[in-house]
Amino acid sequence: MPSEAIRTSPIIKLVIASGNAGKVNEFQHLLAGLNLAIESQPDGLDVEETGSTFAENARLKAVAVASATGCWALADDSGLSVRALGGAPGVHSARYASSDPSRISRLLQELEGAQDRSAEFTAALAVADPSGSVRLEVEGICAGLILPKPRGSGGFGYDPVFFVPSTGLTYAEMDKGLKGRIGHRGKAFVQLEPQLRSLLDG
Ligand code: IMP
Repeated sequence: MPSEAIRTSPIIKLVIASGNAGKVNEFQHLLAGLNLAIESQPDGLDVEETGSTFAENARLKAVAVASATGCWALADDSGLSVRALGGAPGVHSARYASSDPSRISRLLQELEGAQDRSAEFTAALAVADPSGSVRLEVEGICAGLILPKPRGSGGFGYDPVFFVPSTGLTYAEMDKGLKGRIGHRGKAFVQLEPQLRSLLDG
């Protein structure tokens, strides 16, 4: 007769469908309370983001990575939408320039002289099961302002210029716990977590 310990279910593998080290790092923190083996997506698996919305791209990535690996996959498509730029860079946030510093320079240049510096970060999350079917989808938004100069050294991407008035800090000045509570990815994750737990338990 197997003991309770032997009968406990095996740890489920969850592949983070992203090649972005900053995102993977944040998910490792957010997912720490779940009994999952977290892995990054395999090298060389580049999914084309052809969707016109964050949600569409998140679905594309989750399905592609689950189908390629045969594992559960969690995808995040996220980006920064700036009001004075008509919502740009939006779904093109990663493709706005070739590196984080040049993406920030371009953004600050385009906003030179702008009165309205309001912006929002969006994260669309999608979970696909090992057969490649999308099982969960959520979205989180965080409103803020684009500062004229970068501040802080943490995080990644546009973090040093994204200021959240309620905290008095840029994303790059926040610790992982605070960004995880008030940030776009954290807000999406709060909705996802209970659903993910029951899906994986069932
Ligand atoms: P994608 O979701 O892979 O298309 O890339 C989204 C892009 O948006 C990233 O490369 C970053 O430039 C930016 N981005 C997404 N989330 C964050 C964040 O939490 N902080 C700063 N930049 C972000």
